[in-house]
Amino acid sequence: MKPIVFALPGNESLAKNIAISIHAEEGEVIIREFPDGETYVRVLSDVKNKEIIIISTLVDPNKKILPLYFLSKTIKSLGARSVCLISPYLSYMRQDKVFISGEGITSEYFASLMSSFIDKLITIDPHLHRRNNINEIYTIPCEILHASMLISSYIRKYIKDPILIGPDAESKQWVSVVAENANAPFIILEKIRLGDKNVNISFPNIEEFKDHTPVLVDDIISTARTMIETVKHLKKLNMKPPVCIGVHAVFSDNSYENLKDSGVSQIITCNTIEHESNKIDITELIAKKI
Ligand code: R5P
Repeated sequence: MKPIVFALPGNESLAKNIAISIHAEEGEVIIREFPDGETYVRVLSDVKNKEIIIISTLVDPNKKILPLYFLSKTIKSLGARSVCLISPYLSYMRQDKVFISGEGITSEYFASLMSSFIDKLITIDPHLHRRNNINEIYTIPCEILHASMLISSYIRKYIKDPILIGPDAESKQWVSVVAENANAPFIILEKIRLGDKNVNISFPNIEEFKDHTPVLVDDIISTARTMIETVKHLKKLNMKPPVCIGVHAVFSDNSYENLKDSGVSQIITCNTIEHESNKIDITELIAKKI
């Protein structure tokens, strides 16, 4: 029996491409808001005994989690065999410890909530900062995919003499892999986060890379402060305007405009979150895994 692929609002084009690629049926569903703000869900496809895939990237998660919960519960109540969530961007991964007393570890609470109504999760480059494995918090089977090969191919194809730059120690894990496959050198900077919207970056000597094209690579671009601070340093060092590559185009408030105005040559992201900077397509990465 063919699986059925459902899209949460905003994920239609990725869901359609995935359904075409894996020869699945496209699910029909009505999801809308009542005038009082509550969510209405009606599943029109016959889901009985079928494997169901829901596509929902989870940027801005608070608005999405309840419609997702209702859709999954409704599908299960109609007799589906299983519900797999494909969330190309997985949110609530960053508060993974108590930084100041009184805080909670929301990544754990969110994971436990998700694990209660989804049977399987597939995601791309989740922000596993202080954790080694996503199953330290999720209790359902999880598959993690990486966009690094796609980013390397993009760099090889379009960027001349790149020098890859990772903004913090943590980025070494993926920047080194991207650099190796792109056949390019890389350096890793040191970042101190001073607040939600404030970071400090320290720079090693990059004199020998003066004629290269700096390529900043990070998993998430959110306030873009990390990239903007790095761009400022590169300017002081008289480096060429950098290309900024992020896997997940979170871009809060007007951070995209701020980054564009900071003196970068290009901003490139993967379509894990729909955004005008999307240039690297992750459809086949997901389709192959399914
Ligand atoms: C942090 O550890 C991540 O890898 C990114 O560097 C961070 O999320 C970027 O955030 P922002 O764009 O707000 O500086």
